[in-house]
This record gives sequence, structure tokens and C-alpha cells, in this order.
Amino acid sequence: MVEITINGKKVQVEEGTTILEAAKANQVNIPTLCYHELLEPYGACRLCLVEVVKNGRRSLTTSCNYPVTAPIEVETDTEKVINSRKMVLELLLSRCNTSPKLNQLAAEYGLKKSPFELHYDDCILCGLCERVCREIVGANAITFAQRGTERVVIPPFGEEAEFCIGCGACVYVCPTNAIQIQEDGEEKIIDRWSRVLKLRTCSECGMEFAPDFQLRFIQKKYDLPEDFFDLCRDCRAMKK
Ligand code: SF4
Ligand code: FES
Repeated sequence: MVEITINGKKVQVEEGTTILEAAKANQVNIPTLCYHELLEPYGACRLCLVEVVKNGRRSLTTSCNYPVTAPIEVETDTEKVINSRKMVLELLLSRCNTSPKLNQLAAEYGLKKSPFELHYDDCILCGLCERVCREIVGANAITFAQRGTERVVIPPFGEEAEFCIGCGACVYVCPTNAIQIQEDGEEKIIDRWSRVLKLRTCSECGMEFAPDFQLRFIQKKYDLPEDFFDLCRDCRAMKK
């Protein structure tokens, strides 16, 4: 265990715990946009900035990807931290001006609007969609492409995301609601990834119930019998 100080309070944490995890465990709120507890930290949004004092030296650092390995002092609400988070929010807001989440966070920091030129993108490049697809789902259907101001998350070669199984995990984690999933008749559609998936029909009741590609992905991944997903959930429950 390592002893650290968070806002003046001494706490014990396991070595390797990130500052963000340590803060959360001690009811200290640090705002985040690109962090999810089930995913590898990425350090993209910089909203989780805190001040760290180590060996007498004070520095600003992102807390989500800073593992604690030695005693340090952490301050999460100094003037410098607050002003830096405000600057981050102003920049993000200038990129995605209409995002409800960003506007809500900005309001919490007393910001009414960004002083920078406004853009109406819907993606802050947090990478949550790419990480959940790769690390949790294992589909690797989307990826980062280009550099600098051209950087985007897209399916390989910008074409239909042929490995996307239509699980909706990316929709769930996206902080800006940039990804929409919808069902239209026999198809499930994710416009952002140019993905159209045919739904499988239940062999009992005839209802379309899940993307065929997704069911085959799960069946192979867990080595299930070929006919495992022939029935929808309701019909399967009735057979039990
Ligand atoms: S689409 Fe959403 S989840 Fe994916 S990088 Fe952009 S903001 Fe993040
Ligand atoms: S939450 Fe830490 S950099 Fe985004």
C-alpha cells in the first residue's frame, strides 16, 4: 500500500491505483469525459486534471492515467486546476458546441459559452467507442484515422464497418450521443459506421430479434451449438 494525500486527507491506496480511482474511492469528484472504469485509460480529454506535489515539485497532470507508485500530494480543486478544466471545456465546447453533456459540464464550471470559434462537430475524439469495441466486445470494427485537425474515428478505410456486430456498446459509452442505432424492418442500422445488419428471425414465432452477424459472432466466440440462437429470448424461455 502507498499513503497519499488527497485534498489534505491521508488515504492508503494499492500501488498502481490511479489518482482518479483513489479519488473516487474516497468520494472526491473529478470530472471525466474519456474515462470508463472497464477500459484502459486513454488520457485524451484532459478534463480530469489535478495538481500533484511530488518531491517538492508541483505539476498539473491527468488523473485517469496516473498510477500511484510513491507517496504524493494530490489537489483536485485548486485555482489552477479549475482554470485548466475551464480551458479544456472551452476548447471542447468550441468543437462540439451543441453537445448537452459538454454544455452541462461547462455550466457546472460557470461557463456560458466558449470564447473560441464555434464548430458543430459531434465527436470529441475521446476514443471510448474504439476502446469498448476493441477491448470489451473484441470486434475491432472502428479505428482512429488521420492526424491533427483531420483526426477521426471511422471504420477501416471509411467504408462499412464490416466487423461491427451491432451490439450498441459504442452508442452506450459515447459522451456526446454522436452514434445512433436504429431498427428499420428487418435491419439494424448504425449510420455513423455505415453499418446495416440483417436481423435474424425466430424459428418459433417469426419475430426478428437480433443481428444475425452478432449472433454468429457470439456463437463462435463462446463455442456454442450452431442452433443456439435459433429462438428469440421469449421463445427460448418458454421452452425451458
Ligand atoms: S464517437 Fe463518441 S465515443 Fe467515439 S470518439 Fe467520438 S465522442 Fe468519443
Ligand atoms: S478522463 Fe482523464 S484525460 Fe479524459
